[in-house]
Amino acid sequence: MRNEILKILRDKAPEPVSGEELAKQLGITRTAIWKHIQTLKKEGYGIEAYTKKGYALTSVPDKLLPSEIMAHLHTRFVGRAICYEESVTSSNEVLKKLADKNAADGTVCVAEEQTGGKGRLARGWFSPKGKGLWFSLLLKPSFLPQEAPKMTLLSAVAVVRAIREVCQVEAQIKWPNDVLLNGKKLVGILTEMSAEFGHINYLVVGIGINVCVPHDMVPEELRPAAISIADAVEGKVDRVALLAKVLDYLESYYDIACREGFGPILDQWRDYSITLGKQVKVIAPDKTYVGTALDIDETGALQVKKEDGTVETVLAGDVSI
Ligand code: BTN
Repeated sequence: MRNEILKILRDKAPEPVSGEELAKQLGITRTAIWKHIQTLKKEGYGIEAYTKKGYALTSVPDKLLPSEIMAHLHTRFVGRAICYEESVTSSNEVLKKLADKNAADGTVCVAEEQTGGKGRLARGWFSPKGKGLWFSLLLKPSFLPQEAPKMTLLSAVAVVRAIREVCQVEAQIKWPNDVLLNGKKLVGILTEMSAEFGHINYLVVGIGINVCVPHDMVPEELRPAAISIADAVEGKVDRVALLAKVLDYLESYYDIACREGFGPILDQWRDYSITLGKQVKVIAPDKTYVGTALDIDETGALQVKKEDGTVETVLAGDVSI
């Protein structure tokens, strides 16, 4: 009911809507409307009450509330169910538990804070309260488990496009899926999979975007290599609008991949890549070497031409530019 009240207020804002009109449209009493308005105010919504004219929405809270995200979304199934938490250990962990209880395809778990955020290669992910987008998306694709790593590349493409559009900054992708801004890490993506031979039960794509993490709040050892969007743009970044745009692009690229395969996604990845054409140092699980990053192949693996002219295919590991 509160979401419906909000929708009516939002559509009319900044003009007020009378309590009588709200009560009539929603089929409840004016007293019930008044009670819902008090609850919304407690949640942080700015709602002015004008005598005889009614209620006007003046501001929305700086929180990733499902009602706010939904108001910005244009998706068919991604983000149509949202689990919102003030604080979690890790949104990936929460979503995996929901997935095991059969949560719907496209369910999103978003948190204001993570106390045990997980990164790649058993690292952590610093996720302070209200300073970023820390969220995970559940997908149940019909493609084969060996295709799953390409979902991380797809996610990086969706995130970069959304950040470029909403924040007007030139984010780029470092292979395989780090999103950088001014050469520093802005976004991390961690995809986890539950699968059997030949069948994916589900994927959990976890995305962390540093929106406005104050530089001196970042743990010292991470500080030189980390950046937030707010470090590069003037004014406040609308976290809700950015999250909704990322979800919009995740769904549209996922639809393309399901319909046409990952080819078009890999092309877009190449456009956003900071790695291709550069001298790189490859730290693979079994060896370290330098060379020139030539391209990614159809599996998403990086091809690196070594100084002796041979070409290595990098399936996993880290690459520094
Ligand atoms: C990386 O190491 O680059 C990947 C970091 C992934 C962080 C995100 S934040 C939301 C989701 N929940 C987690 O615990 N990790 C991912």
